[in-house]
Formats: sequence, C-alpha cells, structure tokens
Amino acid sequence: MESTYFKRFRMDTDLSAARCVRPLLPGYRFVAWNDSLLDVHARTKHRSFRAEIDARVFPCLGNLEGCRRLMREIQGKPGFLPEATWLVAWGHAPEDLQWCATIQGIVDKSCGGSIQNVGVVPEHRGRGLGTCLIDQALAGFQRHGLRRASLEVTADNWRAVRLYQRIGFHRTKTVYKVVDAPLQELVVPEACLPSSSFAAIS
Ligand SMILES: CC(C)(COP(=O)(O)OP(=O)(O)OC[C@H]1O[C@@H](n2cnc3c(N)ncnc32)[C@H](O)[C@@H]1OP(=O)(O)O)[C@@H](O)C(=O)NCCC(=O)NCCS
Repeated sequence: MESTYFKRFRMDTDLSAARCVRPLLPGYRFVAWNDSLLDVHARTKHRSFRAEIDARVFPCLGNLEGCRRLMREIQGKPGFLPEATWLVAWGHAPEDLQWCATIQGIVDKSCGGSIQNVGVVPEHRGRGLGTCLIDQALAGFQRHGLRRASLEVTADNWRAVRLYQRIGFHRTKTVYKVVDAPLQELVVPEACLPSSSFAAIS
C-alpha cells in the first residue's frame, strides 16, 4: 500500500512567566468542561476539522464517530485536565446557542501541558477565538503548576502555525506522520492510526 508523509512541527512554550487571557469578543463566552459536554466537544471538533488538512492526517477527525472516539480517549487519559479543556459558545437562549470552538488539554508523561486539538468552526474564525482558547488552556496548565506546554501542528497548516507563533510557541522538533493510503484516498473516514506510525526525523 502507498504511504503519504505529513510533515509536522512540535512546538513548545514556557509557562513560568505570568500570562494574560485575552477577552472574548462580546457575545462569546467560555464554557468549562463537564462530562455531559463530551458530545458537544466531539461535534464542535468534527465541524472544525472535517474539511481541513488534519482530517487527512488523522482520518478520525473527518467523521463524527471518530471525533467521539477521540474525545472518549482524551477524557480517559490519566493526565486529562478539565482546567485546560474548554468550549466557546455564542448566545444564551437555546434558539440562539452556537457552539463555536473547542480545546482539550492533558498533562503529558514529562509533566508538561499538552494541547490536544484546538478547533474553531469555519463561520466563527478570524475573531480571536483560537487565540483566546489557547490562552485559556495555558492558564489552566499554569493553575495546575505546569511550567511548559507543547503541541503538534501539520506544517502545511500555516494559519495554525502562525497563530501558535504569535502566542509564543517555538518549533522544537520536526516529525513525519505516515498515513498508509495515497493522498487522493485520504478523504475516506477511517479509524485513527496508532501513534507508533510517527517517525521522528530530527
Ligand atoms: C487554526 C484555527 C484554530 C484558528 O482559529 P481562529 O479563531 O480563526 O484564530 P484567531 O481568530 O485567534 O486568529 C486567526 C487570525 O484572526 C485574527 N484575529 C484575531 N482576533 C480577531 C478579531 N477580533 N477580528 C478579526 N480578526 C482577528 C488574528 O490576528 C489571526 O490573524 P493571522 O492569521 O494573521 O495570524 C482555526 O482556523 C481552525 O479551527 N482551523 C481548523 C482546525 C485546525 O487546523 N486546528 C489546528 C490544529 S493544530
């Protein structure tokens, strides 16, 4: 079977200094994690990622069941950190309510904060939600006493790379994610590939 290699950057930021959480634009609000919101996170993740490059890199992001499974895996991790796991909503009344953005954070094996997936649904992008959500997750890591946070991003996802650099993340490593299908077939929803398919290059 043909394989496709996706270049990804590992990025880190220092949490030892005080940071501010930029305020959301009027009308938007943060919603803290509780277990009943797992499916809202999954649906918001799916709407954020389904048409994006990461749905090719991680096919589970391209379908709702895959996003639900991913959310259950994240919630079940020993380091899952509710303080770094947030939604952004717009509106209060049930008829107005829109779920706009999602982020999850875990404590990794080296006791750093690890941002999982940050996603903003297309119609709410460019309004600072991604920036504010990452600020909010980093503040959660800090409250938990963590001194460093990291994430991984697909190199071609220039919008996300630029966002992370602007917030203060620096590239520390390049890795290649191997997807065992030719590029044109990667739109087919499949289960997540095991993490062992990462090949560290430098
Ligand atoms: C990457 C992503 C999370 C960015 O979310 P976002 O809410 O659009 O991000 P922001 O609005 O904070 O920043 C994006 C741009 O809008 C600008 N912006 C910020 N606040 C703004 C505001 N109030 N009004 C207008 N523009 C604003 C920022 O300056 C930024 O500009 P830049 O692209 O030149 O850096 C979003 O595009 C997304 O969900 N993509 C698909 C999923 C994905 O790839 N996630 C990343 C996985 S690693």
